[in-house]
Amino acid sequence: MDMTGKVMMVTGASSGIGRDTAVLLSQLGARVVLVGRNKDRLSQTLGMLQGTRHTIEAFDLANTDALPEWMKSIVQKSGSIYGIAHCAGTQLMLPVRMLKSQQVEEVLRTNVVSAIMLAKGFRQRGVNDAGGAIVFVSSVMGEVGAPGRSVYCASKSALHALTKSLALELAKDNIRVNCVAPGTLRTEMLEEAQSLLTATQIAEIERMQPLGFGAPRDVAHALAFLLAETGRWITGSVLIVDGGYTAH
Ligand SMILES: NC(=O)c1ccc[n+]([C@@H]2O[C@H](COP(=O)([O-])OP(=O)(O)OC[C@H]3O[C@@H](n4cnc5c(N)ncnc54)[C@H](OP(=O)(O)O)[C@@H]3O)[C@@H](O)[C@H]2O)c1
Repeated sequence: MDMTGKVMMVTGASSGIGRDTAVLLSQLGARVVLVGRNKDRLSQTLGMLQGTRHTIEAFDLANTDALPEWMKSIVQKSGSIYGIAHCAGTQLMLPVRMLKSQQVEEVLRTNVVSAIMLAKGFRQRGVNDAGGAIVFVSSVMGEVGAPGRSVYCASKSALHALTKSLALELAKDNIRVNCVAPGTLRTEMLEEAQSLLTATQIAEIERMQPLGFGAPRDVAHALAFLLAETGRWITGSVLIVDGGYTAH
């Protein structure tokens, strides 16, 4: 899993899974490009990385039309990108009767359109390292349903379909495309959810995961495995990392 000198872009690097993935990839020798909107929090992540020559790229991934050109500009500074861990994402918990189409569009833009445009940007000549790997972060909610989560579930399920088609389309460019689908972790997202759910509901979610709540590092390991040489014969896969949640 050695990544010495390889440039790895991590979106959502200012928090949670993205932050832990950035730290792990740096420990494996990668030069990491940290992407998110919050510069202060990206700087905090930068301070946690091992090694040097990592960079911060503050960018709103909802600005999807600008994504491919923005990626070209990164390469001019950092060199060709070997892999992308697309960890940025947003959640929405609302019953369908309360949904407004603008909210739906915002979630789909951040969770799905950004992934499509990142892949488009990465495919450009000179942006990837004569090939490479993309790993999207979806959710077990892309495999199962949950009340009040229809938009979130739809966005994560879309990533699973996207992974398979892009894997087939980009294999000729020597680009592998995979996805990691985590179960519930102890992160800020859980804290947000806690404000909307009762203690009993939270306990019920934890009970559904035989190994309990996961940690961001558990997902980071799966991302690193798929990005590194260890994943070289894996493409179009959705790797479920959920403490047994979907084994029921
Ligand atoms: N936590 C869980 O239990 C869990 C379970 C299953 C799946 N997931 C998925 O895992 C991914 C990461 O989750 P997490 O728990 O690490 O979330 P988190 O702690 O809330 O972090 C979300 C990250 O996404 C970035 N982000 C959001 N919108 C963005 C935008 N428009 N442009 C650029 N960056 C943006 C945020 O950066 P800025 O605020 O700096 O922009 C932040 O770094 C998400 O896709 C989530 O759906 C999480």
